[in-house]
Amino acid sequence: MKNNFLGRSLCVIEDFSIEERIYLFSKIRELKAAVKAEDLETQQEFRIEDPNFGIYEVFLEDSTRTKESFRNAANFHHAKVSELATSSSSFNKGESYADTFNTLTGYSNKIFIVRSKVEGVCAHLAKECVEYANRNELTKAPSFINAGDGRHEHPTQELLDEYTFLEDNDFNYDNLHIALVGDLFHGRTVHSKAKGLTVFKNVTVDLVAPEELAMPDSYLLVMKENGYNINIYSSIEEYLQSNNIATQWYFTRPQLERMGEQILKRQEELRASITFRKEFMSKLPENTKFYHPLPRHKMFPTIPTFLDKTSLNGWERQSINGMYTRICLLGLFGGSIGEDFIQTKKVVEENFHDEEYIFSVEPKKSAKKVYSEGVNPIANGIVIDHISVGETPSDIREHMRLISKIIELDDCKGGEWVSQNNDGMFKGIIFRPGIRSFSRKELKRLAAVASGCTLNIIKDETVVEKYRTTLPPRIYNFDDLACTNEACISNPSNGEGVEAMFHRTSDKRYECVYCGKSHSFKEIWNTAKK
Ligand code: CP
Repeated sequence: MKNNFLGRSLCVIEDFSIEERIYLFSKIRELKAAVKAEDLETQQEFRIEDPNFGIYEVFLEDSTRTKESFRNAANFHHAKVSELATSSSSFNKGESYADTFNTLTGYSNKIFIVRSKVEGVCAHLAKECVEYANRNELTKAPSFINAGDGRHEHPTQELLDEYTFLEDNDFNYDNLHIALVGDLFHGRTVHSKAKGLTVFKNVTVDLVAPEELAMPDSYLLVMKENGYNINIYSSIEEYLQSNNIATQWYFTRPQLERMGEQILKRQEELRASITFRKEFMSKLPENTKFYHPLPRHKMFPTIPTFLDKTSLNGWERQSINGMYTRICLLGLFGGSIGEDFIQTKKVVEENFHDEEYIFSVEPKKSAKKVYSEGVNPIANGIVIDHISVGETPSDIREHMRLISKIIELDDCKGGEWVSQNNDGMFKGIIFRPGIRSFSRKELKRLAAVASGCTLNIIKDETVVEKYRTTLPPRIYNFDDLACTNEACISNPSNGEGVEAMFHRTSDKRYECVYCGKSHSFKEIWNTAKK
């Protein structure tokens, strides 16, 4: 039977379907029960026992739990653990991620466990290193597991969190009501929840954080799209006054040091708003459980240590579940489990190839449309019409400057005009007399930078070709694109040579395929490159 999990990578939580996660959780439960019952026979069924199987840990940021639970999970499988000594590696000589990991791929066919400040690293490497393996005729391509990348995601933490919530919820997938408390702005473990908690049918999230540490809008949008009920509070104190307090609370560590002097001056007040206090105990519903991905700061713990010995303590079991989760994950990737998994629901994959976004329109034969070049009508040239319809004249002018730069129309004669429709709405028009044609690639660039416009190609005073554009489903393959997130692997400042690529989201914005940062279509152009 084909094992659905072999050779896969886990870069973001969505790399596992909901059914795959439910399968994984059933295996974790089975393994935990076998360990508790000292049932060695069942435990053995989980073991990979392949002398060629091993993991390669590459941690460019500090870690205790993730790194050591993976190491111990590999020990369970009697698998080799290699570790790149990153602080003394050739990273320090300016070597790229691709060259480093290609080199390691050549030495062993392993699963790489990667933690880095740079976001989207695993998605990039999963593609790069598979190509390296193919061109060097290696017997196996490597897999990648994201062990936390900057502020982006921490999918294995998400899996162990979900498992722990389930454990305390009688494995009921119908409802989850959870409070996310703390630094929701920086915390990658809470960002993973925007997509991760979809494993539950009905989700209510109470977001408890001061404005400065609030959940970014892009994740809020994903939560809304996923049908979560969302309630927002600025402090634990305010939350405890509400009449529907969750029994499951997930705390995250404040990362105020990342936020500059002004915030540091207010650190005491900000910490206080997300730190649990003794006086709050009586306000908690019965059977409340607290969780924390850990570490917690020894001087400023948001879950104070006096709670360790109380029934609120769910974070210690959560941490232990990390090892069981990772044993089972390695089991899936190594093939000891997973053969009996059946995906019953179709996994919807976005098909970016079918959607058309450039439409050829038959120019009207009867009425001759006259575009003025200022003084004289255009006899031969192009006119880009219907730009930024409905926006303000100054926004339209700014947009036309961007279009002219991106389509490389700055060095031609012609002009830009702001006109008003009969219904009073403003629109922009770019005139370029003398230009005779537009290639398919230029049309694609035009759609990407000026969706909704029309392009008229005029010859001998007649519109001979006309195109209408809509927002493309993805924008890529142009060397002047750039993700604006400086932590992203594709941001030019990181020097990794990764071409930017964006996918359109339901709110007509563009998400970086590496770090997930959301942009307007105007923000993705690296105009400095022109
Ligand atoms: N939860 C977590 O990722 O902990 P570490 O940073 O210790 O790995």
